[in-house]
Amino acid sequence: MNGYRGPTVQAVIVAVLGIQACGGPHSQDPVEELALPDTVTFADHVASIVRAKCMPCHRPGQIGPFPLITYTDVRRKAKTVRFMTGHRYMPPWPADTAYTRFLGERVLSARQIALILRWVDTGALPGDTANLPPPPPHLDEPPLGKPDLVVWMPDTMHVPGDARDLFMIAKAPFEIQRDTFVRDIVFVPGNRALVHHMNGGLVNYAAGAKHDVFAGHGYIDASVMKGVDAFTALQLANDDGTWPALTPSAVNYLPGMLPPMYPEGIGGYHLKRKGAILLNTLHFGPAPHDTIDRSRFLVYYAAGPPERPLKELSMGSLGVAPVHPSLHLDPGQVATFHSQYRLRTAISVLSVNPHMHLLGRKFLAYAVTEIGDTIPLVRINDWDFRWQFVYTFPHIVVLPKGATIHVYGTFDNTAESPQQPFDPPREVIGSDSPFMRTTDEMLQFFITYIDHQEGDERINLAPDVSGGASAPVAAASR
Ligand code: HEC
Repeated sequence: MNGYRGPTVQAVIVAVLGIQACGGPHSQDPVEELALPDTVTFADHVASIVRAKCMPCHRPGQIGPFPLITYTDVRRKAKTVRFMTGHRYMPPWPADTAYTRFLGERVLSARQIALILRWVDTGALPGDTANLPPPPPHLDEPPLGKPDLVVWMPDTMHVPGDARDLFMIAKAPFEIQRDTFVRDIVFVPGNRALVHHMNGGLVNYAAGAKHDVFAGHGYIDASVMKGVDAFTALQLANDDGTWPALTPSAVNYLPGMLPPMYPEGIGGYHLKRKGAILLNTLHFGPAPHDTIDRSRFLVYYAAGPPERPLKELSMGSLGVAPVHPSLHLDPGQVATFHSQYRLRTAISVLSVNPHMHLLGRKFLAYAVTEIGDTIPLVRINDWDFRWQFVYTFPHIVVLPKGATIHVYGTFDNTAESPQQPFDPPREVIGSDSPFMRTTDEMLQFFITYIDHQEGDERINLAPDVSGGASAPVAAASR
């Protein structure tokens, strides 16, 4: 899986993701001490938990392997639901909520877990399910309503049923009446069960620079062709052979959760009359039989130019601050690596995104100000390669000028490492090349921010009343 973070069309970073065995936080036994009702029923206690915390992924067409909506659905899976929630494997939420809080946290409280456990242990009673309100029907509706522009993938993608991951590089060209401004772009997979991840940049052609934006291939198999070769096959270049302007990571999709949607005025892009969305990665999970996908982008216009454009700071592998010592693991070795970066100006942080590969076990990021205050950012105590989320803070977090951001990643290259790809363990190198393998390691930390202004810490990033919801992106990467 390739995650694009570079500043121009030529620069591509491949952030390889995949899926391995189940890992997760440790088991707890919270049933004691919580005053639970004697009779726990689906209708009275369990339905509301399942709808809020499980159904977003466990419903038809989503990434969860089976639906968890009705009494029958949950009852049928009661034993595994008990196991997965009791061990806090589900819902997946790797960030430690005792360290920092984020929007859209999908975690169960100790009491909610205890309720589920008691419900299962006392016979999974239905209760008065006839009086349950129907589950919310509009989960798949675009959160901002009707888009101003829909950009379709140029043609249908045929995904072979060979049960293998497929990584495509693709473009979705468009031509509109006049130059305008964009508030948000939302990716809508045609085949939700299959599309695992998409990272897209916005290509804008200067006036007169490109005659036919629709020429060229729509999809390129990234295992066959990458980087500049792929962009050439897509005919992304201007007519004179130079490269057009690219806004990286303008639209991302990770299964299971909504993309971050910041309040109006934060973020946004210029949109030229001719352009394209460049899908640096369109990752299809293994398909058991031949199938198709045709995805689309919903584009929402803004009244004016971006007031506060989004910026990204990338630390660690391939970023502005190197990893110390350089990332390298001998067989059997457990080691912690560090990256630090001192801010020359204050920044107002919206979201953070930790990234490691299979051998990652723990992740910690915080900032220390010049007067020694510590500002916590994110802590992951039990890294799981499959769940790589973009975490959005409820309020902007201001990191003052002169603050130093510290990132620590712990890797386990022993045979017992939960997602160890090699038997026996091998020497593993950190990749400092944009084209790496899943089995190479990375330590990366991405910070999405805006330039600081006085009072930013009071800006609430939670959903606003007009429905411009703000929820963290989360990744179920497999
Ligand atoms: C972010 C999306 C997401 C959320 C939220 C989520 N799940 Fe899952 N769940 C998945 C995916 C994907 C799998 C398949 C995982 C795998 O293959 O390892 C899964 C697997 C499961 C399994 C099967 C495990 C097995 O090995 O058979 C159970 C049971 C389960 N989830 C229960 C729940 C419950 C209960 C909740 C809510 C409390 C929940 N899930 C919330 C995505 C999610």
